Amino acid sequence: MTAQIIDGKKIAQNIREKIKTEVAKLAVKPGLAVILVGADPASQVYVNSKEKACQEIGFYSEVHRLPETTGEAELLALIQKLNVDPKIHGVLVQLPLPQQINEDKIILAVEPAKDVDCFHPVNTGVLFSGMSSVVLPCTPAGCIELIKSTGISLSGKKAVVIGRSNIVGKPAAMLLLQNNCTVTLCHSRTADLAAEVRQADIVVAAVGKPGIITGDMIKPGAVVIDVGTNRVNGKLTGDVDFVSVSAAAGFITPVPGGVGPMTIAMLMQNTLNAYLAQNRSS
Ligand code: GUN
Repeated sequence: MTAQIIDGKKIAQNIREKIKTEVAKLAVKPGLAVILVGADPASQVYVNSKEKACQEIGFYSEVHRLPETTGEAELLALIQKLNVDPKIHGVLVQLPLPQQINEDKIILAVEPAKDVDCFHPVNTGVLFSGMSSVVLPCTPAGCIELIKSTGISLSGKKAVVIGRSNIVGKPAAMLLLQNNCTVTLCHSRTADLAAEVRQADIVVAAVGKPGIITGDMIKPGAVVIDVGTNRVNGKLTGDVDFVSVSAAAGFITPVPGGVGPMTIAMLMQNTLNAYLAQNRSS
């Protein structure tokens, strides 16, 4: 089998067009504030892409680029300011943060109604309880859209997620469960990763190890979603060994051009949803 490539760039562009059309009808623009602390090269690229997407869609956008030496109190003060700023409907602090700043404290400081990352425990709690959510975790929600784009029904499928991070692995497992998959969440202590992955109709690789998922682990025809963004000799490389896996899988996402553009599209959707929810309740 030679896998069909899932074109994340195109799917993300369609979502962005729809949001742009919605935004054009609004009297007041939805506003997103992004905070970047330090000069991590990958984070700089992500933040620039988020800023560009806001401009294209017609959002009001602010990017606060703070020095690497920024203290926790200073960052908290900026978040408090943005939490009460009526122009701003979404506040995003790009992770990772420099070591002098406690990441948990920062996640807790963002007003849940403006938490467009869906990182705050109030929002993850809503999600994990199965209550109706205003925002969804961006990368996992993007993965679900990519799987759905294949036309394959998720219900009853065996899904294996590799990686248990709060940003991707854990919430991806929850979204797959909500879509009626039978879910296995693998991690660094999983006894036999290959045996687990071989069972999967749907594979979501989010572990940060270049090429760890190989063709011999793939059930013929499986849908393989590669969340990995590893730099290998300056080249962006996924967690999936693309050549061997695409020989076995039914569908596969490329890196770049798969999950990455979907994360940004979902962030734009969350910002619009947060804006609409804030205007409903005021
Ligand atoms: N760092 C890596 N991915 C993300 C993301 O989705 N949101 C934020 N805020 N930081 C990240």
